[in-house]
Amino acid sequence: MMSTFSIAIDGPAGAGKSSIAKELANQLQCIYIDTGAMYRSVGYYCISQGIDYANEEQVEQALSELHLKLTLEEEGQQIFLNEKNISLLIRNNQVAAAASKVATYAAVRKALVKMQQEMSKSTSVVMDGRDIGTVVLPHATLKIFLTASVEERAQRRYKEYVQKGEKPCLETLKVEIKERDYQDSHRKISPLKKAEDAIEVDTTYMTIDEIVKQIIDLLKRRL
Ligand code: CDP
Ligand code: CDP
Repeated sequence: MMSTFSIAIDGPAGAGKSSIAKELANQLQCIYIDTGAMYRSVGYYCISQGIDYANEEQVEQALSELHLKLTLEEEGQQIFLNEKNISLLIRNNQVAAAASKVATYAAVRKALVKMQQEMSKSTSVVMDGRDIGTVVLPHATLKIFLTASVEERAQRRYKEYVQKGEKPCLETLKVEIKERDYQDSHRKISPLKKAEDAIEVDTTYMTIDEIVKQIIDLLKRRL
């Protein structure tokens, strides 16, 4: 039995954070917290309620009407917004762009970071996002910063769409990823940044299994 631990996984879109975090939680038998889903939920709420997500004041006001709950089901982590399961509704580029915008607002970050810290109190967790190693879990047992080339990340997203029966434009996906990278790493509050004590892993030429194995080996050495 391992002692309580926390693994912080950060990195840009398509680096492999959620696939790797999910598999790590599965093998290590601990909780997985997808913080991106929480920012996506705020973005989704704005779009579905006709709230202008570019208007910080309006989004801040909407926060009090918004109740988020994360649960772990057999089919993976589910996210509920005011009791409605929106897990599948938040997985599109429109919501991703809205998430990236609302994630620049201090009030949104403050509310979500508080929830994330409460959820990870006194239990072993794998948490992924953009500011986990720098802000949410500054004392994490292990911090990983995943990267991959823009071309590879766009290809990965492209394959996901093709599997769903859609045929997006690869060039457009690349542009959207670059825009989100820029917005996430240039915002004033908690920008996407490698924590000083994080280990950087370039996943461009690595499989998910290889990365998971490397991270578990690193964790074992820390515990
Ligand atoms: O969470 P994040 O946006 O960082 O990435 P992801 O959703 O975990 O991964 C994006 C896609 O890339 C998924 O379909 C993964 O299966 C795939 N992937 C891969 O093929 N090889 C890797 N080394 C990492 C991810
Ligand atoms: O899966 P992907 O990497 O494309 O994105 P995500 O992890 O679902 O996050 C969506 C957006 O939420 C990101 O582009 C960030 O702007 C924001 N986010 C954040 O600011 N901080 C986090 N801890 C997680 C996500």
